[in-house]
Amino acid sequence: MSRIAVFGAGYVGLVTGACFAELGHEVVVRDVIPERIDQLRAGDVPIYEPGLDELLRRNAERLTYTLDVAEAVAGAEFLYVAVGTPPTYSGDADLSAVWTVVDELAALEGPAVLVMKSTVPVGTGARVRHRLDEHGLERVGYASNPEFTAEGTAIRDFQHPDRIVIGSFEAADGDAVEELHRGIEAPIVRSDVASAEMIKLAANAALMTRISFINEIANVCEATGADVVRVAEGVGLDRRIGSSFLRAGIGYGGSCFPKDSLALKQLAANSGYHFQLLNAVIEVNELQKRRVIGKLQQRLGSLRGKTVTLLGLAFKPNTDDVREAPSLVLAGRLVAEGATVRAWDPVADGAAALPRATICADPLEALDGADAAVLVTEWPQLAQLDWREAAGRMRTAVLIDGRNMLDPAELRAAGFTYDGIGRAAAT
Ligand code: UDX
Repeated sequence: MSRIAVFGAGYVGLVTGACFAELGHEVVVRDVIPERIDQLRAGDVPIYEPGLDELLRRNAERLTYTLDVAEAVAGAEFLYVAVGTPPTYSGDADLSAVWTVVDELAALEGPAVLVMKSTVPVGTGARVRHRLDEHGLERVGYASNPEFTAEGTAIRDFQHPDRIVIGSFEAADGDAVEELHRGIEAPIVRSDVASAEMIKLAANAALMTRISFINEIANVCEATGADVVRVAEGVGLDRRIGSSFLRAGIGYGGSCFPKDSLALKQLAANSGYHFQLLNAVIEVNELQKRRVIGKLQQRLGSLRGKTVTLLGLAFKPNTDDVREAPSLVLAGRLVAEGATVRAWDPVADGAAALPRATICADPLEALDGADAAVLVTEWPQLAQLDWREAAGRMRTAVLIDGRNMLDPAELRAAGFTYDGIGRAAAT
């Protein structure tokens, strides 16, 4: 069993640390935020990820948390970098947290392999290698081992991945990282470092392309009288196409897709290439969030003085994450149009995300007196909601189902004027 230092106690770092501990490895998680480390030491999990608290508890004897780099790297054979790489003003990935980790490794005594889990532009590995050498750390190997875990299912995704990608400069470093994953059944893709970095960016771009594609098909469905839910079903059953990531809606959000698409776009642009398709994917997604405002205006006329309830704030269910969530753009646009915003989410911190909205603990309460509601996040609670009562509580029972979650016929029977996304045939 190996000793692993994980840098970054965010979603990726904690899931990676917990899952490696579950495989029997000794893991030290290092973060720079004292409250975060205090919380983890006290047995509290600072993020919402189903199953994570139990996994951390079950493996507590193999997991330690520290603020101290020297303590983290002492005896570590693997140094996993799982720090944030947010977009800069120019859209490039901000790698300052990565460089801080690399520069702090001077404290390292023995040999080790630095493994990049954070999503980084192609070419980062080569630059890190150079910097390690500058620090006299030639004995530290380097590998790229990108993560493909989705929030809400991160533990299952880590333990049962579709593939494990390992890129390295030296075969021995890749072998060591491969060995670390022993116990996980999955195809392993070995490559050079640049290709591993690109696999992550390309996989994300492919998924986003599917979403923007089906959203454009949905928009054409609306204009021509087809129902995108049936269309996606019929298209997705073609084995060459497949059915995943063909759910039309109000666009993708989250901590990865928006940031990684911008980073790939800029990576291409910085190299002199105009990535037309990706630009279109990003633009379609931006417009898709805003189309909801048009739908509301169609039903209500001017939104000035109207009350609109957002049902769900997180960028998808089973997470408290509101980063780049469509709800933020929607709320901003609604306020700009002069509407009052009420909102409900079972987990996300609504008051922090939308300081100008009235946040309610219960979805029915959030609908009290509203002129319209938008289903933003497909939380299971909303499938169970008493929609007849909901209609009774609203001033006008107008619902825009931004995720095509509900049955249009049932909602109409409950008294609603219902609009989905791309569901002209159903309306
Ligand atoms: C994603 C990738 O799936 C994962 O491999 C990568 O490591 C990180 O980014 P995540 O951001 O957690 O994971 O969420 P995901 O489940 O992929 O959904 C992303 C967004 O796309 C959500 O806003 C979701 O609502 C939206 N989406 C997804 C659609 O609009 N339609 C779909 O068919 C699928």
